[in-house]
Amino acid sequence: MSEMPLVTSARSAEHETDKQTKQEERGLITPRTNTPAVQSKDHWTHSAYKASAPFVPLLTQEIIQWLDPQTTDTILDLGCGDGSLTAKVAERSARVAGFDASANLIEAGRSTYGSVSNLSWHVLDCRYLEGSEEIKEGEYDKVFSNAALHWILRDASSRMSVLRGVYRTLRPGGEFVFEMGGAGNCADVHAALLAALVHQGISIEKARETSPWCFPSELLMKNMLEEAGFRVQRSKLEYRPTELTSEKEGGLEGWVKLMGAQFLEVLDTEDKTEAVVREVCDVLQTILTHEEDGSMYLGYVRLKVIARK
Ligand SMILES: C[S@@+](CC[C@H](N)C(=O)[O-])C[C@H]1O[C@@H](n2cnc3c(N)ncnc32)[C@H](O)[C@@H]1O
Repeated sequence: MSEMPLVTSARSAEHETDKQTKQEERGLITPRTNTPAVQSKDHWTHSAYKASAPFVPLLTQEIIQWLDPQTTDTILDLGCGDGSLTAKVAERSARVAGFDASANLIEAGRSTYGSVSNLSWHVLDCRYLEGSEEIKEGEYDKVFSNAALHWILRDASSRMSVLRGVYRTLRPGGEFVFEMGGAGNCADVHAALLAALVHQGISIEKARETSPWCFPSELLMKNMLEEAGFRVQRSKLEYRPTELTSEKEGGLEGWVKLMGAQFLEVLDTEDKTEAVVREVCDVLQTILTHEEDGSMYLGYVRLKVIARK
């Protein structure tokens, strides 16, 4: 593996700034001055995440094997959430920086793992990663992401910019290792949400537009990564039905309210919101339930990738 100095000299930093300014002028990257650090609304709370989706950072054995953290590694965790997985990665690495758009979740991470000295926390809407002053060219050995890229890549207009930002902040030879929702992810609940919105008078076009997700196929992801300059080393798409919690605030209802918050926001009354949540839960009741014990499974599809700079 080739090595890049972690601290750039003053002259090369000046050169990089010049290069960046020229790229900004040519519209190749998002200008740094236009970078909103925080999303307009924080849909995430730590308690809702713990009640509805505690399995997300736990079902990660394979992707952590793919990441294979080394004690010399500097790693950026893109969409780190409350940082429970980030902290595990930090136990085996030199330094880990957690970036997430949710100030609530970053605060939860900071308060739980604030004393871990090789871990840092950053609130950033990663759709604007490329133009962010928080990341430097060639700063990291690896960029890691679990269950966050399908949110971060939601807007077709900023997708390539995010991937270029990841590419820029990796050192030559560095790896982008991620797991995200892939084509067909949670199609059950996705379809039920769209239909329930239409039943409340929202047009199908508007309902589709509110979707906060991008679930790419392996081919689409490969094409986008290659366009950003990466070489895909390994990739896998798999159907992984995932058991929902039986927590009071969790289960399918908690999941829909947390993960589907942006769909629900398009409705203008509490009654309509409740009606959509109810319809989704009613429609999916028998589809998702395992009769033998009443447990419920959502149709998660995971896309795992290792891409090299
Ligand atoms: C399902 S959680 C996964 C969190 C964490 N990686 C884990 O494994 O527990 C998805 C995360 O993506 C973050 N996210 C969504 N959109 C984002 C954006 N535009 N920029 C940064 N983070 C974002 C959310 O705030 C949330 O923490």
